[in-house]
Amino acid sequence: MVPGRSAPVFYESCLDSTNRLLKEMAAAGAENGAVLIAGRQTGGRGRLGRGFVSPEGGLYLSLLLRPEGPPERAASLSALAAVAVCRAVRAAAGVEAAVKWPNDVLLHGKKLCGILAESAVEAGKVRVVLGIGVNANLRREDFPEELRETACSLLTETGRPVDLDALAGELIRTLDTLTAAWAADAGAFLEEYRRLCVTPGREVLVLRGGAGRRALALAVNDGGSLRVRWPDGREEDICSGEVSVRGLLGYAE
Ligand code: BTN
Repeated sequence: MVPGRSAPVFYESCLDSTNRLLKEMAAAGAENGAVLIAGRQTGGRGRLGRGFVSPEGGLYLSLLLRPEGPPERAASLSALAAVAVCRAVRAAAGVEAAVKWPNDVLLHGKKLCGILAESAVEAGKVRVVLGIGVNANLRREDFPEELRETACSLLTETGRPVDLDALAGELIRTLDTLTAAWAADAGAFLEEYRRLCVTPGREVLVLRGGAGRRALALAVNDGGSLRVRWPDGREEDICSGEVSVRGLLGYAE
């Protein structure tokens, strides 16, 4: 599927979770760059302990990375994945997607793709499984009722099915290109990320420990955290692992 690529791309028609299985393969020695794709998932995992709806028609892909350097450096890889998804859907489906901080990919203000990065450190070496779920050819009725207003797919937005193999190939090639640049300079993709990210300048609801507080999103910092201003004027940098950010008007706005 991806000519010239040395690391393997595995495909299974149905798995519980590509992230779960690739993490297991990583612990057993799978190589840097290994990719695992499933046609559907029965236990798709999302951020903050949530699930990820994964019926047939979506692209469910996990990539194993074994980056050099300290574990903190790897924290920006999920933002890199969001940039890769935007490029891949532009190439394969002709649409301009955007990023909602930290790494949801939106199309027309609705969630098109979710990204879950899971890392482990063993003997001082970090490994990261970057899981990407793109709602490619899902119909509106494939989403549970409660997601229909906030989630979308390439099919619902363009009216045309996308070639899943072409989308996967595009995404893998783009991830390979971006991660190679990232290895030399971890900030290489940040300018593009900031261009794609629609969160700064918006009022957001920061959900932390069960409570929601309004804030104004100011900017994405170099390390990937989000600078916000609280109503009392204080500013704070919030990290992606600790909060969920909701728009005040809808999913993104
Ligand atoms: C989120 O939106 O909360 C993140 C969703 C990440 C879903 C992808 S699908 C491929 C990979 N395998 C999983 O179980 N999760 C990720």
